[in-house]
Amino acid sequence: MKRIFVTGGAGYIGSHAVKVLGEHGYEVLTYDNLSTGHRESILYGDLVEGDLGDKDLLRRTLRDFRPDGLIHFAAHIEVAESVANPLKYYRNNSANALNLLEVLGELNLSNLIFSSTAAVYGIADEIPVKEEAPLAPINPYGASKMITERFLSDFSSARHDFDYVALRYFNVAGADSQARIGQKYRNATHLITRALKTAKGEYEKLQVFGTDYATPDGTCIRDYIHVDDLAAAHVDALRYLFEGGRSAVFNCGYGHGYSVREVIDVARKVTGRDFTVEDADRREGDPPALVADSSKLRCTTGWSPAHDDLEYIVRTAWKWEKNL
Ligand code: UFG
Repeated sequence: MKRIFVTGGAGYIGSHAVKVLGEHGYEVLTYDNLSTGHRESILYGDLVEGDLGDKDLLRRTLRDFRPDGLIHFAAHIEVAESVANPLKYYRNNSANALNLLEVLGELNLSNLIFSSTAAVYGIADEIPVKEEAPLAPINPYGASKMITERFLSDFSSARHDFDYVALRYFNVAGADSQARIGQKYRNATHLITRALKTAKGEYEKLQVFGTDYATPDGTCIRDYIHVDDLAAAHVDALRYLFEGGRSAVFNCGYGHGYSVREVIDVARKVTGRDFTVEDADRREGDPPALVADSSKLRCTTGWSPAHDDLEYIVRTAWKWEKNL
């Protein structure tokens, strides 16, 4: 049984990955400071409550656990917050990742999967986006992840015994089919969560940020991917490294997108509630369309998503939301 060390395993995406790892028989250890994660979200393995800034604890934990592979989720993820407080993002998403890499180097540990983001592309010239597209983040969140990708690339060039996979996530949504785990942030900014909370009555109305984009209905297009499919991509990427695959970067999305209005229609259908929707100004930093070309991930690791269905995504998110 291989041992996998997961930073941020108590968070939204991390907890789904821990679940999928556990279901595949991996031994999992979560390292999480519980700043946004929840102890009860960890369905498999133990938790070490710790911060990546605490290098001594990190070193001791890794020396004791001796993982065969690692997944690094722990990070801040709000674009608007990153614009207002960039150093918080560079500290946690970049400097703390450097701590982790230094410790991995000291202990000769390899096989790291890194949570990256489509935000590294900024406003993409070509849709669907390929991994070779220029990296031009338009906010500190995307920049903080791009910098860490660069750390990884340079480190793996220097250390031939170190391999990693960076997964660039597109718009992650949905929840565990049994609603045991799901998104639980203090401040919900994501479209699907926001729409469902509006349907629930937590918000008076849902605003559509921008209706004059050069898209068929004027609203932004995104590639929404179910969190369990994304979690499975991490397990596939680990297997790829265990089988001798070398360092790589993969986009992770379904390869087709939905507009904000289309998502709202599905949210209304799934909830059966006709919540108030209001057209609003564009939100700063939103690219008009972001859709992944994930053929490299599919071909290289054999990733084969099971939930490419917006209605399923929204249904699982709604079941979770109602349980909260
Ligand atoms: N939107 C609304 N109303 C809302 C919330 C969102 O109209 O109340 C719109 C946004 O303007 C955007 C789309 O819905 O056009 C999707 O917005 P989200 O906030 O759900 O997601 P983003 O596309 O902004 O962000 C996602 C990830 C980020 C990642 C980014 C890459 O959450 O981590 O994609 O662009 F950086």
